Amino acid sequence: MTLGARAAGELPAPVAGGVATRPDGFAAALDRARGRHWLLHSDGRRSSLPVGRWHGPPEPASAVVVARCAGPTLDVGCGPGRLTLALTRAGHTAVGVDVSAQAVRLTRRRGAVAIHRDVFARLPGEGHWAHVLLMDGNIGIGGDPVALLGRCRELIRPEGTVIVELEPPGAGLWRGRSRLASLSADGELRRSGTFSWARLDAVAVHDVAAAAGMVVPEVFRAGRRWFGELAVPVPPEGAVPRACRRGGSARSG
Ligand SMILES: C[S@@+](CC[C@H](N)C(=O)[O-])C[C@H]1O[C@@H](n2cnc3c(N)ncnc32)[C@H](O)[C@@H]1O
Repeated sequence: MTLGARAAGELPAPVAGGVATRPDGFAAALDRARGRHWLLHSDGRRSSLPVGRWHGPPEPASAVVVARCAGPTLDVGCGPGRLTLALTRAGHTAVGVDVSAQAVRLTRRRGAVAIHRDVFARLPGEGHWAHVLLMDGNIGIGGDPVALLGRCRELIRPEGTVIVELEPPGAGLWRGRSRLASLSADGELRRSGTFSWARLDAVAVHDVAAAAGMVVPEVFRAGRRWFGELAVPVPPEGAVPRACRRGGSARSG
């Protein structure tokens, strides 16, 4: 990412060290679409955030993701809800979920359904969703992609999928602390507190998915953006679940 000299000079140093996770970390980006917004990571990297896109209408890549959805879909970390809206317009049952009350307000204002909830809290329709979406870097939520994918696995039906936006190959898996820095059009700089976050690329996703008990049948692209569609592997035909074997139990090894 390239920062303008003025913006780069004014930006705070990337975060270091740990403080509590902040569910309001994205507040400035949800409050105002304009200005410039970055995520500053504790490894020194800065990611420019396409916040204008979040607040705008569904873009062409949204259509590519929506075209893969064939049933009730949960848009996790929905932000202002453009994907939830695109799904709704396509005729799907779609629900956005976000820890930010502002994100939920904005999504509802667009005419889509959203609930104010942490993805790790109890959610409606657990185990029945056809798809769960983790767009716009949301694989970072909670700072532990294996735990997040494990949670998404609980949310989908057995044949459901989790569609995840990924970094291009090369970045691998990174976990650490991040904070949002926002520069308004009139030069005001706002920084959030730090929160746990992660980044995951289109190669490392295979190992991370496996650790969460999933596979990645397909990695696909929409323009410059990368995505993976993850599923729970189907047991080989005739395989008997461990808990059903004679004398066996789910815990007996
Ligand atoms: C990178 S932004 C994604 C923006 C969004 N996908 C969009 O299109 O506008 C991350 C979003 O995830 C939300 N979020 C962060 N932690 C969350 C959690 N534990 N559960 C649900 N949402 C969360 C944030 O409030 C924020 O709206």
